[in-house]
Amino acid sequence: MEEIVSLCKRRGFIYQGSDVYGGLAGTWDYGPLGTTLKRNIMDLWWNTFVQDREDMFGVDAAILMNQKVWQASGHVDTFTDPLVECSSCEGRFRADKLDDPNKCPACGKTGTFGEARQFNMMFKTLVGPADEMPSSKKISDTEIEVTTSYDTFRIDMTTGLPTRGRKDANPAISYLRPETAQGIFTNYKNVVDSFYPDLPFGIAQQGKAFRNEISPRDFVFRSREFEQMEVEYFVHPDKWEEAFEQWRKDIHEFLENIGLPSDKIHELEVPENDRAHYSKRTIDFEFDYPIGREELLGLAYRTDFDLGNIQRVSGKTMEYTIKGTNERFIPHVIEPSFGVERAIMAVLTSAYTEDEVNGEKRIYLKFPQHLAPVKVAVSPLLKNKPELVSKAREVYTMLKKELGNVMWDDNGNIGKRYRRQDEIGTPYCVVIDFDTLEDNAVTVRDRDTTEQTRVAITELVDSVR
Ligand code: GAP
Repeated sequence: MEEIVSLCKRRGFIYQGSDVYGGLAGTWDYGPLGTTLKRNIMDLWWNTFVQDREDMFGVDAAILMNQKVWQASGHVDTFTDPLVECSSCEGRFRADKLDDPNKCPACGKTGTFGEARQFNMMFKTLVGPADEMPSSKKISDTEIEVTTSYDTFRIDMTTGLPTRGRKDANPAISYLRPETAQGIFTNYKNVVDSFYPDLPFGIAQQGKAFRNEISPRDFVFRSREFEQMEVEYFVHPDKWEEAFEQWRKDIHEFLENIGLPSDKIHELEVPENDRAHYSKRTIDFEFDYPIGREELLGLAYRTDFDLGNIQRVSGKTMEYTIKGTNERFIPHVIEPSFGVERAIMAVLTSAYTEDEVNGEKRIYLKFPQHLAPVKVAVSPLLKNKPELVSKAREVYTMLKKELGNVMWDDNGNIGKRYRRQDEIGTPYCVVIDFDTLEDNAVTVRDRDTTEQTRVAITELVDSVR
């Protein structure tokens, strides 16, 4: 894992967020190559599950949503993790992730944890020029009066509870969404009204999600800000099982497409007491990461939980009528939910390879070609020979026009260039040498085999595509 983290930083894939100021735990910044890798994975997902299908609709909903969304969805009440605090060092930890439930992993003391309390993981924020910073004054021996920009109320000094005047939740409160799913559910009716789709159909969304994780850890695996790719697939309540099975197959196919070996992917049937509050069935797709076997993505049967809640709280019907009949019902939902960071970590893990070339250790990223951030690197053999540089520029421009992500690389000697390109997973290096000026052919070096072949420039695009 350390090797991968260090390569990601060294070669411009992923940096610690706010690194220059000492970092911000649980946040990561994607560098030029990481950005392209991430985009390649997300585009492949979008093409596979939205663009190439007839039954899918894409949306891009606002991250900030009306607080009622999160009240209705159950997140305000139940999106929590158990938190314990050490009375000695004041460290805070997720109770269910401790190696020893009685021992503080920071100071090593035992018996210093109190009762676990439920910590809500949503990032709360205020929308508009509102603030919640209260001012207070003592009203009597038993009561204080608290004033916020939103309301004025009194608190009993003994119990700490409001006695009178406290309104319901401040309407300015919003949350950074902890899942993209709710932006789909809240647009279900809009999509149905605009497109009249036949059941089953799905709505997909990619985008940021935020969770105030108690213990972010393991590189990007558990971050506080991350990206999700989710589908809510709406089905007739009697047909959820077949849709669930189909998605199971589709997920495996996609994972194969991003180059994950099937023997490293495992399905975990999540027992009822471990399932999210909305799910009647969940399969976690786990992957053998260097940190161990951990969840890569989830497939859940969310029933009509979300649309039912929206109908109840909003008072608007979420029922679907089968065309040409009087059959009306709230559709049930199958939800494949992918985490982009975990997919990237699995892709990097699968691609990371060490071997030996001419007695020297070599590291390379064996990305599938369609995911590689750089498809081809083009170099003149010597950068101080104008005739080579000019021919190489010609080849570079031609390849870039055809393939897009092509890199110009004339730093250091050829050996160093190959090593650098291997480390960023470039499938082919193309070198223009003196023979090129005579025979119009170039040397193409293959990342995985390190074999070099001569290819006519006229055939180059096809041979490296
Ligand atoms: N809408 C359902 C949902 O959000 P989830 O299992 O809580 O379900 C789905 O999250 C996926 O999002 C996970 O399988 C994982 O890939 C990713 N994910 C969740 N929390 C994450 C975190 N803190 N950091 C990175 N990825 C995360």
